[in-house]
Amino acid sequence: MKVGDIRRVELPSGAAAVYRLADGFYATADLCSHGDASLADGELEDDNILCPYHLGSFCVRTGAAVAAPCIDPIATYPLEIVDGTVTLVWTGD
Ligand code: FES
Repeated sequence: MKVGDIRRVELPSGAAAVYRLADGFYATADLCSHGDASLADGELEDDNILCPYHLGSFCVRTGAAVAAPCIDPIATYPLEIVDGTVTLVWTGD
């Protein structure tokens, strides 16, 4: 993945979106908290992911909603990088 890329990853419960920022990788829930949209289909704008449906946004570092109509935060997930392989640390839903 290059800087600015987003990848959807299936989880045992739902899916995550993994983002490559200039300083590393981040992961959030893929489902927007405002509606049935995949954030992996959105666009990164600095540290924020813009939802493709109504253009609300979330900080990918914290999961906080940062632009309306999004209000509720989304989950974030820790990542481990070992020998260049990025692994999402799944601890349940
Ligand atoms: S579904 Fe994401 S902003 Fe509305």
